[in-house]
Amino acid sequence: MAILQTHNLSKHFGGVHALDRLSIQLKPGQITGIIGPNGSGKSTLVNVLTGIYPSDSGAVILGGEQLKTIRSPEVRDYGLTRTFQEVRLFEQIPALDNILVALTERGVFRALFERHKILHQTRAREILERVGLWEKRRALARELSYGQRKLLEIGRALAMDPKIILFDEPYAGLFPEMMKQVNGILRELRTQGLAIALIEHNMDLIRELADHVIVLDGGELLAEGPPAEVLARREVIEAYLGE
Ligand SMILES: Nc1ncnc2c1ncn2[C@@H]1O[C@H](COP(=O)(O)OP(=O)(O)OP(=O)(O)O)[C@@H](O)[C@H]1O
Ligand SMILES: [Mg+2]
Repeated sequence: MAILQTHNLSKHFGGVHALDRLSIQLKPGQITGIIGPNGSGKSTLVNVLTGIYPSDSGAVILGGEQLKTIRSPEVRDYGLTRTFQEVRLFEQIPALDNILVALTERGVFRALFERHKILHQTRAREILERVGLWEKRRALARELSYGQRKLLEIGRALAMDPKIILFDEPYAGLFPEMMKQVNGILRELRTQGLAIALIEHNMDLIRELADHVIVLDGGELLAEGPPAEVLARREVIEAYLGE
């Protein structure tokens, strides 16, 4: 049973069909790899699903409800969260507070005001330990390395306590140690029954992690199925792997 579905979802920017009648599904307890050449619509899909851009037509079925428009603030109520290809953090506050803001979701100031709450403190510590940043809890987000910033953003996604996470290239630019950490987190989330979308250009990672693969090309669904089978298809190799 899918927890998230799109039906003929379309989005254009001027003459560019970023999403073209795209119908896909995400299932609980599965990692769905989303692959495709640069500009094939992968990030646009995540942006439309999280209400950053309105779709032109089509529908999203989320938690059994058919949604015509998705509004960013409501996305969390459906248990949906994402990470950004270009990391977005509260740069001027410590790593710990970045997590607390996500945990309490009442804006920066209320969240800081509530910092003493033991429950939030405990959960924030668990999350920072999970992403390997507890030692860095007092560092301002902007002082963290590129990889640490990506891990902090993943921590913020975990703090939302989601049922569905859309990861937009979480491994890009990470050192091997950090890649292992992200690997472990994704596997753990799958075991916990979350539906995970993983946008990724590294096919070894897709082969290793994905239960199901979706290939986009020019905003359209080019192919889908088990990784080993999909990555061997001629049209996929021509559109993407062979380039
Ligand atoms: N805000 C925007 N304004 C105009 N065009 C956009 C916008 N966002 C995306 N596009 C265009 O839509 C198409 C799909 O872009 P998208 O970012 O979704 O690709 P992608 O598959 O994520 O690529 P990459 O692998 O490089 O991250 C591209 O042609 C892109 O230039
Ligand atoms: Mg992208």
